[in-house]
Amino acid sequence: MHFMITDYILEIAYLAASVTFVLGLKLMANPKTARKGNLIAAAGMCVAVAGTVFLYDDHHGHTSRESVKLILIALAIVIGTVIGWVTAKKVKMTAMPELVSLFNGMGGACAALIGLMEFHHNTGNISAVMTILAGMIIGSVSFAGSIIAFMKLNGTMSKPVRLPSYNLINNIFLLALFADAAWMIYSGTSSSLMLYLLFAAALLYGVLFVIPIGGADMPVVISLLNSFTGLAAAFGGFLYHNQVMLTGGILVGSAGTLLTIVMCKAMNRSLSNVIFGAFGEGSAKAAGGAAAAKGSTKDIGATDVAVLMNYSKKVVLVPGYGLAVAQAQHVIHELEMLLEERGVEVKYAIHPVAGRMPGHMNVLLAEANVDYGKLVEMDEINPEFENTDVVLIVGANDVVNPAAKSNPASPIYGMPILEVDKAKNIIMNKRSMSAGYAGIDNDLFYNPKTSMFFGDAKKALTDLVSELKTL
Ligand code: TAP
Repeated sequence: MHFMITDYILEIAYLAASVTFVLGLKLMANPKTARKGNLIAAAGMCVAVAGTVFLYDDHHGHTSRESVKLILIALAIVIGTVIGWVTAKKVKMTAMPELVSLFNGMGGACAALIGLMEFHHNTGNISAVMTILAGMIIGSVSFAGSIIAFMKLNGTMSKPVRLPSYNLINNIFLLALFADAAWMIYSGTSSSLMLYLLFAAALLYGVLFVIPIGGADMPVVISLLNSFTGLAAAFGGFLYHNQVMLTGGILVGSAGTLLTIVMCKAMNRSLSNVIFGAFGEGSAKAAGGAAAAKGSTKDIGATDVAVLMNYSKKVVLVPGYGLAVAQAQHVIHELEMLLEERGVEVKYAIHPVAGRMPGHMNVLLAEANVDYGKLVEMDEINPEFENTDVVLIVGANDVVNPAAKSNPASPIYGMPILEVDKAKNIIMNKRSMSAGYAGIDNDLFYNPKTSMFFGDAKKALTDLVSELKTL
């Protein structure tokens, strides 16, 4: 095999692209540089794709430069780019997890299609077939699982579906999948029927894997599926000896795994508990019922909240999903600045799973130019609530629900929460007495220190800011 100059240029392009992925990830660790990181990594991906399209040559007379192939590739790129661009532009911030799930599913589908395409080109080559089947199975599970996750998040499939003994069925199914793949490798079969059966079984397993999981566990599942897609892409990298695919796959796989671990930790749940323990709906109702009997609530208006805050030394703002829905990030920043001008110390308490995606509150507040230093993580802010005069909770619910600490029957029992009940005064802004994502009532509403500041977050905070200005 003779190496040509184009081969060397291609390898250099792959190396450069791999470097941009690592650099991009590093920059994404901070909201200020995240956009730049994303653009750098995307530019690297463009270089890798362009390099493959224009420079690849397999030295068997096949290149990707033949005109029909080029037209098909260009067409696919145009269609994909238009769909991706339009959806990403139109998507609301709060619907990001569903979009991420859908895009992740597309990555899994690509890995599965590679397996379907390459199987017949490699029969007899045991290590290649192993790589191909591993990539195809993992990619198919990720694709089917991500589509179910997408449907769950957008409400099409609202309730977890639990077949009788679903854990046992799923595990047996998984073993059967492995056994089938092992037999195909061992026998060296080139049967298309076997291949398609394995593909269909892997898709079905992806569905069975995700349908029983529900409630607050979905973010963990999405990030786990994300790591599966990365792994499947890495197998593609092995198969093609393609360094950039390998690097990209490994980065996605390991980042997804780390995020899964971090989120499990934030919710105080083990991964096996998320996958096999299924979030209970029955107990959600029981926990909700118990809280509903806790007594009465107290209302408060913007004028009284303004007076209370104006004479405070220290105020902690707790942003949640409702702040994002109301797009009230700019007005909460205005409130913070106004209070600081009056000598009040203001901090934001950030729960790791507040909102609907990892880092949601950080991104939201960064959009309003809130100083990053004012955002305090849960473990650091919890000891500070004791000497906080007023805590203002804006559109957060589950992340401040004391049932997570006090009610073993609650589905969120064990999840670390922001311990706002230690503050001297608790003001809770939301539109009604409705539950949050986990679907359970919140004892905090009935705490004697709590006052309910009802209304849409943007409207309520705007009123509060106007009242403060008059003082
Ligand atoms: P939630 O518990 O979901 O509560 C949000 C609250 O905001 C609701 O109770 C709602 O009450 C209120 N709200 C909605 N729209 C509002 C508006 N326009 N103005 C004011 N309030 C509004 O939110 P959270 O405390 O941020 O907790 C997040 C939950 O989502 C957790 O259970 C978490 O596990 C789950 N989850 C997290 C992620 C990640 S990774 N962050 C992903 C998926 C799911 P009203 O209807 O009464 O207004």
